[in-house]
Amino acid sequence: MREDDSGRRAGPESASGADRSADRGFDPASRLAARERRGRRRDLAPVDRVDARARLAPDPRSTPPEFRDGEHLVFAANDYLGLSGDERVQRAAADAASEVGTGAGASRLVTGDTPVHRALERNLAASKGTERALVFSSGYATNVGTIAALDPDVVFSDERNHASIVDGCRQADAEVVVYDHCDPDGLAAMMDARAGEVGDGGDPSDGTDGESWLVVTDTVFSMDGDVAPLRELCDVVERFGAWLMVDEAHATGLYGDGGGIVQREGLGDRVHVQMGTLSKALASQGGYVAGSEALVEYLCNAARPFVFSTGLAPPAAAAAREALRIAQENDRQDRLWTNVDRLRDDLADAGFDVRGDTQILPVVVGDSADAMALDAELRERGILAPGIRPPTVPERTSRVRVAPTASHTKSEIDRCVAAFRDAGTELDLL
Ligand SMILES: Cc1ncc(COP(=O)(O)O)c(C=O)c1O
Repeated sequence: MREDDSGRRAGPESASGADRSADRGFDPASRLAARERRGRRRDLAPVDRVDARARLAPDPRSTPPEFRDGEHLVFAANDYLGLSGDERVQRAAADAASEVGTGAGASRLVTGDTPVHRALERNLAASKGTERALVFSSGYATNVGTIAALDPDVVFSDERNHASIVDGCRQADAEVVVYDHCDPDGLAAMMDARAGEVGDGGDPSDGTDGESWLVVTDTVFSMDGDVAPLRELCDVVERFGAWLMVDEAHATGLYGDGGGIVQREGLGDRVHVQMGTLSKALASQGGYVAGSEALVEYLCNAARPFVFSTGLAPPAAAAAREALRIAQENDRQDRLWTNVDRLRDDLADAGFDVRGDTQILPVVVGDSADAMALDAELRERGILAPGIRPPTVPERTSRVRVAPTASHTKSEIDRCVAAFRDAGTELDLL
């Protein structure tokens, strides 16, 4: 019997349908082995705390983790402002737990809607300059729920968009047109071609011919650390009368006054759907959509992960709200950018190819074996920074993704650079 990783089996026995004793179950162990053979196996590796310094344990499976002696410096987390360990954020979560409850207890539409949620949503909407915001229990659920609820006929999607956007398109059952990474001209050509196909090549402003079109892009790309050309994308979207949705997961709490790239670029009134997460710089859990009153009220009714899932836990909402307030004070942002600039310059001086324009520093080595070897050598030297290889990134662009935070000290940045130099020399990458 053949088996692939999609959960389907095929073979002469199942094809006949006659053998009532045929095994119609699942064989996770052999699927796992198949993943291993394809180099797609992933492993859990517990850390003792969410911080810029942490101890590691090998995957304990079902036993308690045993943390090794000696801390690693973590350059792998999205806690960019280092607020997970901030006492004010922790206190906000603890107060919400005791005053409101540890869990929402029900969908927001039943009894899970609390003043903590509403306060966070007002603050997010203010930071985004929109009429209203709505929080979901994860960023993943936000993308899937929002795209599926909008139910577009066609989604034009940047080729490097996050998996949750890809899954949202699948759930919407939309036709997906993938455009080249950060290429507004390529997008315009594809929209033009589509407008022609649906029978209206003459008037681009009416090109949708009754179809609904959604253009979706990350603002800061999580593996490339680059920024979408939003202004140009807005121009294209407006030419064709479509809608633009952006994912500010890696920009929320950063840029402008903490409002992300849309805010920094002053494009709030040209972007129809601003989505983001509470799980990265805001050191919590959850996701949000910010937009018009009508959009939010509609999503409240139609986004299935909002309607049919328990509301975001009140401590998570309160923590994110406090983190947003602290992010807007800007001194944490200043510390982050100091660390980012120092690390970027020193790694480049050491001879590494450091890409991106944001707080995410992809150190590109090309070959996937080299990237994984660099990851392992850095780990040996007490630095955690993940090797990333295809299919997550394009062939021949394997890399180590380095994410400094506002909590790293100057000497920790120096230790990271020294480890890169040593490991790079050892592996003949420099
Ligand atoms: C660009 C992007 N969008 C959405 C998500 C999903 O967010 P969450 O982790 O809050 O579910 C992520 C998380 O990795 C992301 O990087």
